[in-house]
Amino acid sequence: MTNKGLVVDYRALDEHQQVDTCSRCHARRFPVSLNDRYDHSFLDGFMPELVDEGFYYADGQMLDEVFNYGSFLQAKMYAKGVVCTTCHDSHTLKLRRPGNLLCASCHQPDPPTFAYPTLKAKNYDSRDHHFHKDDSIGAECVNCHIPPTTYMVNDPRHDHSFLIPRPDLSLQWGAPNACAKAGCHPDQEKKAATEYNQWLVEAMGKWYGVEWKNRPSITGIMTMARRGDPVAQIPLSQVISDPEKPAIVRATSAELLGQYGGSSLALVIQQLLDASPLVRVGAVCGLATLPNSQKPKLLDSIRKEVQKARSIP
Ligand code: HEC
Ligand code: HEC
Ligand code: HEC
Ligand code: HEC
Repeated sequence: MTNKGLVVDYRALDEHQQVDTCSRCHARRFPVSLNDRYDHSFLDGFMPELVDEGFYYADGQMLDEVFNYGSFLQAKMYAKGVVCTTCHDSHTLKLRRPGNLLCASCHQPDPPTFAYPTLKAKNYDSRDHHFHKDDSIGAECVNCHIPPTTYMVNDPRHDHSFLIPRPDLSLQWGAPNACAKAGCHPDQEKKAATEYNQWLVEAMGKWYGVEWKNRPSITGIMTMARRGDPVAQIPLSQVISDPEKPAIVRATSAELLGQYGGSSLALVIQQLLDASPLVRVGAVCGLATLPNSQKPKLLDSIRKEVQKARSIP
């Protein structure tokens, strides 16, 4: 293909950089530079909202209208190289396939493991997976895994974190879950939230056994950290140091860890050298409470560290 002289050469981008080109507009973010350029990194021009209170629930689901970027960064699919244009045609913006067929193009008994080696061979578009009547709203992948919330009366937005519904965590920590979205189970909606979620937990138990409850979640850690509870200090440090966790979650943890001061600050400072620019930004936010008088000394030592790491004389 000939080079058409476009500002962005998509052939030169990796998957995450490709997502960044959509995210300039499809992110809840604020500008940090007057000189934003499409051929520069998204984070050179913008600061996205982290998984913060008021914007996201503690488990990472969208609370306020945060658009798609911050959510999708948390998704396992993002980590495995799925990009926005895998599902959305970049010119028509239409979904590449309708309904469950879109998801079943990868999540099926004969999955494209040549492109995504960790995909499980399994028929998800079946009652064995979703336990709802065929063709009902409870049988649509979207309603359980990327559920919509309507903002400003007429503005439906789908939660691109692609989480797995967890009514047990709703019971324990209060974050919502897709199964309890309005309109799903009208009979149960008359009950108190606790009873409704209990009913959901029992249904999940019948269908999925016990393993589903062991799937790791940041809900408890983040809820406690947001309250400033010292119990969250060690788990937050573990999240920060876990390369398997999404960068935006690690960044949020660095931001939250700063509030504890003392020895926690050493770990936050260390993140100023992290390979992910988002984690570095999270660390800067985490150091906001540091007295101004200490900042120049700190920055000087970081500068020395960076020079050492890059072996610049
Ligand atoms: C220059 C800003 C900008 C960029 C870059 C951009 N979009 Fe959009 N996009 C918009 C606006 C504005 C809308 C309409 C408002 C909305 O729905 O959020 C929109 C709407 C959409 C919609 C919804 C269409 C519909 O029918 O409701 C999709 C899907 C979408 N964009 C995907 C993408 C993808 C994928 C990329 C990257 C390949 C991208 N956009 C890049 C600004 C942008
Ligand atoms: C292009 C292939 C592709 C398409 C299309 C796709 N997925 Fe995925 N999905 C993946 C991959 C790869 C993973 C990661 C699998 C793994 O490592 O466990 C994944 C993981 C998931 C997970 C597990 C998340 C977790 O935290 O464990 C869910 C849920 C999911 N996808 C739902 C969907 C839904 C819903 C759709 C349709 C809207 C969809 N996927 C479309 C490739 C795809
Ligand atoms: C009624 C809600 C519901 C619907 C509809 C639904 N899922 Fe799920 N999905 C779940 C639940 C609950 C789990 C967790 C199950 C477990 O832990 O065994 C899950 C887990 C998953 C996982 C991750 C677990 C794994 O096996 O790797 C993927 C991927 C997934 N679903 C894809 C899909 C796709 C694709 C569709 C549509 C064809 C779909 N789901 C429809 C509720 C649903
Ligand atoms: C795995 C498939 C998948 C991926 C990847 C994906 N989306 Fe979506 N997206 C959907 C589905 C499904 C909808 C719901 C559309 C509908 O029902 O018409 C949607 C809806 C949207 C909408 C319409 C507004 C809304 O939230 O409902 C926008 C804008 C959008 N996506 C942008 C993006 C951007 C930007 C990315 C990358 C950061 C992205 N999407 C990644 C499947 C995906």
